[in-house]
Amino acid sequence: MAQAAGTTRRVRNMEAIQRRYGQTHRQDRWWLEPLLIIVGLGAFGAYTTVSAFLGDYWPFEAGVVNGHATYLSPYFEPLIRVQGLPEWFSPAIWILWAPLSFRTSCYYYRRSYYRAFFRSPPGCAVAEPAKSYTGEKDFPLVLQNLHRYAMYVAIVFPIFLFYGAFKSFWLGGQVGGEVGIGVGSIILTANAVLLTLYTIGCHSFRHFVAGGLNRFTASPFRMLRRRLWEIFTIANENHRKWAWISMIFVGLTDLYVHLVAGGVITDLNTWSQF
Ligand code: FES
Repeated sequence: MAQAAGTTRRVRNMEAIQRRYGQTHRQDRWWLEPLLIIVGLGAFGAYTTVSAFLGDYWPFEAGVVNGHATYLSPYFEPLIRVQGLPEWFSPAIWILWAPLSFRTSCYYYRRSYYRAFFRSPPGCAVAEPAKSYTGEKDFPLVLQNLHRYAMYVAIVFPIFLFYGAFKSFWLGGQVGGEVGIGVGSIILTANAVLLTLYTIGCHSFRHFVAGGLNRFTASPFRMLRRRLWEIFTIANENHRKWAWISMIFVGLTDLYVHLVAGGVITDLNTWSQF
């Protein structure tokens, strides 16, 4: 009896120790991943905010010919200008809310920033500061459940980006004029591809394509849906990788266009009459 009570006390003591924030039996460098996430997401968030809100104060159109740009930063694609708005209202505001709400509600990013920024928990088997788990059923986290609808909007943007990339192979973005290729054309195309890989790897997108079926034979387009499901599963399996690569690359693409537009660097290119 006394032995059982002693065991219970020891278990309670261990639980008390476990509950202290950061306590863990893990021997590995579990803190490295959240640290890198803080640095990565923090840098991207800070850079994107500055770039987007500077708007016309930091040129985002490069290779402008007759008022039309060869390269347009992906943060501003498609370019929407509304007359009568104050100067500080950046055209990026019309665009970025969609891909950013898609990213912030992404299942992978949620896992990442809950751990890194909210320490909930900081890592597997590492004690967290919160005393209880409330999940995502209360405001504002309940809004994360709108990810599927954010996806419906976000899947349109790779189309705009591919069109922007296509135009970048024409001087001044004028299809039918001088055709050619520049470093910027390659970067904008790679950016469109990477953001597409991230988008089609979305869990909600995969469900949208082939979810809601107990068996593929129940669908009138079963073979097509099955094929698409298999293709998107490949991207889905690497969703975390595409999330990071596409995020870093879109930031660097934006920076490249800004630097060329501002005359800080020269874009290597060649153009000739079609
Ligand atoms: Fe990551 Fe949908 S974009 S799960």
